[in-house]
Amino acid sequence: MKVLVTGGAGYIGSTTAKALEEAGHTPVILDSLLAGPRAFVRDRVFYEGDIADRALISRVVEEHPDIACTIHMAARIVVPESVEQPYEYYRDNVAKSLELFDQLVALGRPRVLFSSSASLYGTVEGFEVDERSPLAPASPYARTKLMMEMALQDMAAATDLRAIILRYFNPIGSDPDLESGVYAREPSHVLGQLVMAALGQQDAFTITGTEHPTRDGTGIRDYIHVWDLARAHVVAVERFDDVLATERAPSAVINVGTGDGVTVRELVTGFAKVFGREVPVREAPPRPGDAIGAFANVDKAREVLGWTASMTVEDAIASALAWGERREEILGYP
Ligand SMILES: NC(=O)c1ccc[n+]([C@@H]2O[C@H](COP(=O)([O-])OP(=O)(O)OC[C@H]3O[C@@H](n4cnc5c(N)ncnc54)[C@H](O)[C@@H]3O)[C@@H](O)[C@H]2O)c1
Repeated sequence: MKVLVTGGAGYIGSTTAKALEEAGHTPVILDSLLAGPRAFVRDRVFYEGDIADRALISRVVEEHPDIACTIHMAARIVVPESVEQPYEYYRDNVAKSLELFDQLVALGRPRVLFSSSASLYGTVEGFEVDERSPLAPASPYARTKLMMEMALQDMAAATDLRAIILRYFNPIGSDPDLESGVYAREPSHVLGQLVMAALGQQDAFTITGTEHPTRDGTGIRDYIHVWDLARAHVVAVERFDDVLATERAPSAVINVGTGDGVTVRELVTGFAKVFGREVPVREAPPRPGDAIGAFANVDKAREVLGWTASMTVEDAIASALAWGERREEILGYP
């Protein structure tokens, strides 16, 4: 199967491209390289350009008429930046995605798998959320994701477009062969920052927010190994029509997490265990747009996709550490 992967030079996109290849499929990458590094495209079929460039999307489909599905991952993704630059976030994540979806439908390529986010969820008692839990996106970034979910559902109801919306929880770790991983020079993700503190590239790891109503005051997340997340996409692409048939709807929303909640302090403890040494920690107030967090109820992923996460947080930490040692070789910077 040929699959268009927008944002395929990114952290999750490059890992998903590899998982597709391992399952015998061919990813076709479309990425502007706004964020993702060229090194992550490797030797894949690659179009450098923007998702809103309709002529480019036409050319991609003309040159690859056997594209069966699009995984739309391209987006701006940094929560605090979205608070400072809302226009850029709404333009790129919302307006440009609409152009892409409309063009895909016009070109007769109506299957879209969309990267949504657990950051849509409001805080609920016990912190476990299923797909019907109340939504309360706390940042412009999260609101762009909610808007696209709504647009996809409305377009699926009115046009040929068909959508599977995956609400990712918190991907961590790297590709098991260490060919890609977190590439930001100063990673905003918690594990990337922990690795930097552990390897002495930062003087300490900062826990942002220590007075949340969780068991130890720090935020709670559902950390999923990025390879497990990548595999969920492969299953969703392979079973696309069956998933919607089971759902009896033209679109479906599915949580993709492990089902376990881990606080930031617990992650730091787990990290020290895998690393074999304590990591210096500093405490600070929450960043703008930060949510207390949630973990996934994964019943639907199990029942509808037939997928569950199989790797542990420790596996992900170990792979992130190994990637931290290796990444300079691939990226050209530490
Ligand atoms: N990383 C997370 O914690 C997380 C959690 C939930 C959801 N998601 C979603 O998953 C997707 C992938 O995230 P990621 O962590 O791999 O981010 P990433 O920044 O590494 O990847 C996104 C890619 O999209 C590209 N891009 C951005 N705007 C583009 C445009 N207009 N046209 C073409 N390419 C464009 C970037 O160059 C980048 O390579 C995003 O949609 C993100 O919102 C990520």
